[in-house]
Amino acid sequence: MTIPRHLTARPGPALSGRVRAPGDKSISHRVLILGAMASGITDIEGLLEGDDILATARAVEAFGAVVERLGQGRWRVTGQGGFKQPVGVIDCGNAGTGVRLLMGAAAGYRITATFDGDASLRKRPMKRVTGPLAQMGARFEGERLPITQTGGGLRGLDYWQEVPSAQIKSAILLAGLNAFGDTIVYEPIQSRDHTERMLPAFGVKLRIAEMDDSTAVRLVGGQPLTGTAVTVPGDPSSAAFPLAAGLIVPGSEVTVEGVMLNPLRTGLFETWREMGADLTVANRRMAGGEEIGDVTARYSRLWGVVVPPERAASMIDEYPVLAATAAFAEGATVMRGIGEMRVKESDRIALMAAGLTACGVRVEEEPEGFTVFGGAVRGGASVTTHGDHRIAMSHLVLGLAAAEAVAVDEPGMIATSFPGFVELMRGLGGAVS
Ligand code: S3P
Repeated sequence: MTIPRHLTARPGPALSGRVRAPGDKSISHRVLILGAMASGITDIEGLLEGDDILATARAVEAFGAVVERLGQGRWRVTGQGGFKQPVGVIDCGNAGTGVRLLMGAAAGYRITATFDGDASLRKRPMKRVTGPLAQMGARFEGERLPITQTGGGLRGLDYWQEVPSAQIKSAILLAGLNAFGDTIVYEPIQSRDHTERMLPAFGVKLRIAEMDDSTAVRLVGGQPLTGTAVTVPGDPSSAAFPLAAGLIVPGSEVTVEGVMLNPLRTGLFETWREMGADLTVANRRMAGGEEIGDVTARYSRLWGVVVPPERAASMIDEYPVLAATAAFAEGATVMRGIGEMRVKESDRIALMAAGLTACGVRVEEEPEGFTVFGGAVRGGASVTTHGDHRIAMSHLVLGLAAAEAVAVDEPGMIATSFPGFVELMRGLGGAVS
């Protein structure tokens, strides 16, 4: 398959239809890693087959697990009850979650592994994970990727988490599984809890306590994991793109089925509703230990809002697409307390500000946030994505409702989290080519 150098979204008629969200990226990484740490078979339904996840699948294979693809989204991991010494470098591609969680998991075993990734991942901060893992006893060479880690002989850690990050929390908890004594992570602002929700399915006991100033997750080291069956729910972060198009293209009605509704992930939906979005959820049910539902977005007249900074953790990946929809809202949408956006796959504040400005939208950038002044959106720009999938998809959605077409570069990177995005948007009637 040849990968185009550009993708263009053109303004067109209303979008309509029902689609399925791809499997959740966070849960897909976790099930592969826990399956590899466990003894026996883990059968997975609905695994995201994005490039980030395929990199994690190859990584756990390198650590000794047997990984088989049984069919579309159906995978089997046969774990060896722990990670084995890998041969060669563990290439995590573009995936921050993949590398940070793998480092945490690998830290518990007496093995040495070199982790690497693409140009974007090599720039991202790793000290936030290698710091606490080193306190537990793991050893590291290098501050940014490539990093060589030697694990084993860990002791448990009491960790007060300043940055609300599920990647840091999860890395520490996964290391804690093979540490001596208790590991406790205190979070003043709770981050996504998929690791905590999934561990009990693998037979791990942990305790979650609401304290006055934080949520504490505690587990005792030395607990074996046993393979299990996991159904991966639909990714709300991916569902956000077709839903956003539904909200901003006049006359549209788009339903995304099977979207995970974990309250630590749905800050965007809450924000859209505050902006006046006609967003409804039907058919609420459980899948893989998470509540899911079918989410419908109808074209809505939106108005700007101030997004509470304390909501950031529950929508940190969604600010780019929120900014795209805010461009069509009446008035200003103020997004603050989101400095973390600058250390994602790209500096997402800078790239959204640049892309929206190129499309004729007024944006004020701040060190830890930005404000989008909505109204009529001209479009008519070619946007630089720095290989960031969410920057690309956000601008393509914007292009469907702007006055003129919007193009993005490096569209191949969309497949890191949302393979089939273009076909799905076309199926809804979106002019993306
Ligand atoms: C993720 C946590 C978030 C998020 C990332 C996925 C996870 O990162 O941005 O896309 O699966 O744990 P941080 O934990 O660094 O905020």
